[in-house]
Amino acid sequence: MAVTPQRRSQDKRTFRTDAWWIQPAVVAVVFTAFVVYATFRTFENNYYSAPIHLSDLYQAGQVGDLLSPLYSPLIPIDWKIWGYHVSPAILILVFPLSFRLTCYYYRKAYYRSYFLTPPACAVRGLGGSAYTGERKFPFILQNLHRFTWYFAAIFIVILAIDVIRSMMYHGGGWGVSVGTLVLLLNVILLGAYTFGCHSCRHFCGGCVNSFSKHKGLYGLWRKVTYLNERHQLFAWSSLVWVSLTDLYVRTVTSGAIADHVFFRF
Ligand code: FES
Repeated sequence: MAVTPQRRSQDKRTFRTDAWWIQPAVVAVVFTAFVVYATFRTFENNYYSAPIHLSDLYQAGQVGDLLSPLYSPLIPIDWKIWGYHVSPAILILVFPLSFRLTCYYYRKAYYRSYFLTPPACAVRGLGGSAYTGERKFPFILQNLHRFTWYFAAIFIVILAIDVIRSMMYHGGGWGVSVGTLVLLLNVILLGAYTFGCHSCRHFCGGCVNSFSKHKGLYGLWRKVTYLNERHQLFAWSSLVWVSLTDLYVRTVTSGAIADHVFFRF
């Protein structure tokens, strides 16, 4: 049977002529790199907080506690399974991981980059007719996102406490080091991502019928909307920075570098 021009155009996966594949490819590379690094650090189960014996500086009370966000809050467990020490990060990871994986923005990103359903706007996907949206298991679990947000919000408080603890010096007094600023930027970016969540936006005002009767909620909703409009930006910046924060804490707690103190008071 002769192939008509119309038939040929239907077989084409897209008419886009721009480099539409770059964005999904970059997402796949960055997200995969994060998963590999986070998995390594989770199972490494070491170099995540400043141990007392780390250095003379620490014993002299010249640095505060630094705790990796991947191991926060500090869970003092010493469980063994088949002779293997269970990392406390595994117990912690389930909360931020479920929050990120069910995030509306990340869903779009990894559906495009990993599942290619579709890989970009106006590009035919590979999902085929087997794709049933989020109405069946396992993707129906994506609807739990609003509940994961409650736990994510609690983690912001915990990470903010870690910033304060990094300024509390064991010999007495307070101080600010590079580590303090690294942890501070981490909690700011994670906070901007968490409080820009679509579920948070609904929680803070999207659920009311009349803003004129709820002026306070309206003000809050507008602030959350500001973050929500930049959700993609904070999704990636917080993901990258949480990795760099952990890397910095690992470098300091392994003794490779000292945490430079700017000033004490
Ligand atoms: S929609 Fe992205 S964190 Fe909730």
